[in-house]
Amino acid sequence: MKRYLIPWDKDNMEVFSTEVLILGSGIAGLYTAIKASEHFQVTVLTKKKIEESNTGHAQGGIAVAMDLDDSPALHYEDTLSAGAGLCDHESVKTLAEEGQARVRELIEMGAHFDRSNGVLAFTREAAHSRRRILHARGDATGWEIERTLVEETRRQKGILVKEGRFVVDLLENRSGDVLGVLIFVTETGKLEAYLAKAVIMATGGLGQLFGFTTNPDVATGDGIAAAYRAGAELMDMEFVQFHPTALVLPGFPRFLISEAVRGEGAYLINKNGKRFMENIPGKELAPRDIVARAIWKEMNSGPVYLDFKPIGEKHSLNRFPKIRQTCLEYGLDVLNTPVPIAPAAHYMMGGIRTNIDGETNLTNLYACGECACNGVHGANRLASNSLLDGLVFGARIVEKILAAGKREMPVWKDVLANQLLNAEAGSKKTEPASREDLQHLMWDMVGIIREQDGLKKAGRILETWEENNKTEMNVEDMEFANMLCIGLAIDRAALARRESRGAHYRLDYPERADRIWRKHSVQSEEDVNVTYISITEDN
Ligand code: SIN
Repeated sequence: MKRYLIPWDKDNMEVFSTEVLILGSGIAGLYTAIKASEHFQVTVLTKKKIEESNTGHAQGGIAVAMDLDDSPALHYEDTLSAGAGLCDHESVKTLAEEGQARVRELIEMGAHFDRSNGVLAFTREAAHSRRRILHARGDATGWEIERTLVEETRRQKGILVKEGRFVVDLLENRSGDVLGVLIFVTETGKLEAYLAKAVIMATGGLGQLFGFTTNPDVATGDGIAAAYRAGAELMDMEFVQFHPTALVLPGFPRFLISEAVRGEGAYLINKNGKRFMENIPGKELAPRDIVARAIWKEMNSGPVYLDFKPIGEKHSLNRFPKIRQTCLEYGLDVLNTPVPIAPAAHYMMGGIRTNIDGETNLTNLYACGECACNGVHGANRLASNSLLDGLVFGARIVEKILAAGKREMPVWKDVLANQLLNAEAGSKKTEPASREDLQHLMWDMVGIIREQDGLKKAGRILETWEENNKTEMNVEDMEFANMLCIGLAIDRAALARRESRGAHYRLDYPERADRIWRKHSVQSEEDVNVTYISITEDN
């Protein structure tokens, strides 16, 4: 693997400096920016428009133990149990305990969550023992949160936002400390460099690696790949969550049908109109990985549907206006027609390895949100914990930077130049593969159901594609190179884990094997072998 995606010339670059540099404008990026701007001068760089992120697409809501019959202790227990034995207990405790304060801040910033008789209304989602999910505008929670954070960001004078900035690679000094980032400006086609005392990755997920996904086009794992090339460790890359219910209509993208729909009572039915989850503990509200695999299995006998009827017409209209409207645009009325659904890649539990303060193994590099992994989601994220994760661990990074005290602003002369400028420019593309080839390969062989032969074959193909790939300086090529890099990391971790746990299911090793495998996988670019570290537990 190459250290840099493209050739770049240190002598020919516009260089900017900022105290805190944040990459990404979803919930984790913007919330961290707002918190950081209380103390620092902040720059946020985002790949497309500020509003374009996974956050805006979130429907179900944000999980937080704020209802009267709920507590952080119950939220903690539910998160551990969905995480299938792989959660780090301290991370989960932090999430459950600090979540309340962070959500209150969001409400103070102006986020309007739905209320019933004046008090916050909570819905239920799979594997939650309580009604714990705050929602907004029925099923447009992500939109409401993103709106709030974008408006707040624009109000803050200390935050500079630049759109259309694609992160190419991290810049380091000779010791490997992160000094800044190399950026491709989509409008001009030029490169820029940003130096910062602290660089925070909040670049989101990678659903676009798979043939079917609920994620928007921007979710190509760029931040994870850039961090990996620079030497950051990745953790738990085999754990990709597949959402059980995405709309399947020929010719249309797989639009998410929120888990809250089942939380409010909808049934999963097969082609004969029969419920097929009735004998599985938790039924339609079993943990996500279990429901996704049950649907996958049932699809061998025919299409699977989500039936809104048990929710009732009035409540469906009230709670799921966006889902109904989108389905209507596709010619389907959820009020009287069961919705054809199938699983789709949805969320990455793994990512850039961090501690609970967002620190990575590279000095001055932090990560939060979906691109980061501190063990809070284990092998299977509890529904609606991801938005909370972005708030809680983003805020902790700011506290950590503050506690670290004064730092010097990096200088350009200390940035290590790209030694491979000419050699890389000369490499040839001998076996072109397309993004669609990659997405099909990942879906078929590294997807919901995996086994050794398929994973090995996928690994060989990905390696060949990566070796022969030539990356030109445009977003499409650079995204593709990142997708190859991340696809390989997922494949290697999935091949190495010879058990089934949470979202990682191996047909050839169908059992969960706690004695051997209750540990996190770790990968770094220095060594293609997957290594392991223990999970942290309560004493
Ligand atoms: C959903 O609404 O089902 C998605 C929520 C989540 O992924 O946590």
